Amino acid sequence: MLIKEVCARIVKDSRNADTIAVSVNGAEWASSPNGKSTGDYETPSYHRSLQWCVDFLNAWCDEISVSKFEDLARVEKAICKNADLKNARAFGANSLYAFESAVLKALASEQGKELWQVVNSKNRKIPFPVGNVIGGGLHSSGVADRPNFQEFLVIPFAKKFSDNLKIMRFVYAEAGKKLNAKLVNDEGAWLVSSDDETALSVLNSVRINAEKKFGVKIGIGLDVASSTLFKDNHYRYNTHSHSLESQFSYISKLISEYNLRYVEDAFEQHDFVSFAKLNKFARKKCLIVGDDLIATQYNRLVGAIRTNSINAVIIKPNQNGSLLELKKIFDLCRARKIKTVISHRSGETLDSGLADYAVGFGADYIKCGVATKWREAKLNRLKEIEKKI
Ligand code: PGA
Ligand code: ZN
Repeated sequence: MLIKEVCARIVKDSRNADTIAVSVNGAEWASSPNGKSTGDYETPSYHRSLQWCVDFLNAWCDEISVSKFEDLARVEKAICKNADLKNARAFGANSLYAFESAVLKALASEQGKELWQVVNSKNRKIPFPVGNVIGGGLHSSGVADRPNFQEFLVIPFAKKFSDNLKIMRFVYAEAGKKLNAKLVNDEGAWLVSSDDETALSVLNSVRINAEKKFGVKIGIGLDVASSTLFKDNHYRYNTHSHSLESQFSYISKLISEYNLRYVEDAFEQHDFVSFAKLNKFARKKCLIVGDDLIATQYNRLVGAIRTNSINAVIIKPNQNGSLLELKKIFDLCRARKIKTVISHRSGETLDSGLADYAVGFGADYIKCGVATKWREAKLNRLKEIEKKI
């Protein structure tokens, strides 16, 4: 395939914020989401500005030939040359991801393949979904007495993705009823006035009922998103503060008490040492997940593996931008037995490409919410892929 025509434009995400959408050779549009609880180490979203990147892509006239995933290297080389950049990521994570994704969508259409097959047609594993049921923190701003933790998560472990989807939706509906919740937050999770442990107990009791009803193992977990709580060397909760040491005791107590299977960003984004301590404590029974800690950067992942700080990592395509680097990250995780959790952002578009990347890259888990049309676009696409496989 020759890249003949590139169209770029500004579109709105689920929070009504601007983001970029790109189409190559008239094929399906690809777009990037936006984060809110962002890490310090993420690749900046745009070189110069969103408008500059849109104009740059609309003026594209290099007829590059692309016939397989690895040929994205040619696209990255051309970006560096044309925009005078040292590496393609400097073009901006949102603009690079949308462009590369649009190239792959065009290639899939020309070759009569599915998007995930263009990434790797041999990977056929459908990831376990990690669903955000109850919300708090930065994604639920505006609610008095909201939980401090950003996400209260459910992970059903049925063999079939379609069964996991049913279970996740059941848990979501039941938790909403118990909490008398009516509204949802940025990620479609229930917006509640509740303290952390009440929300956790409700989710745990719903989990126990759902395990009985479906006869399937179900885990629960948290995204603490603790970088957003960390000020002046302390974790600041609504009613109290934790020092570095007491944050460790608190989180490890919650892991034991609620049998948590998943804890993301239990410590702020520089603290590899506390992560390593928790990872040792968890002894593989709970996923100790780095999000802001790694920010989908290869070098930070290498550091976290060296220090034994995590046993799982969040991978957000638009925290990095380069799909080639994403592949390197997945390969390293597989080699070092680090579980991979491909993830949406809080400000999403209707692009379902994340589901295809989950399968193509062979992700172990996908975190893309439970409810609202932006999250359902990815979940329904995975259901469709499962049917075809
Ligand atoms: P973000 O948060 O998309 O707002 O950055 C998601 C997360 O912290 O997992
Ligand atoms: Zn997170």
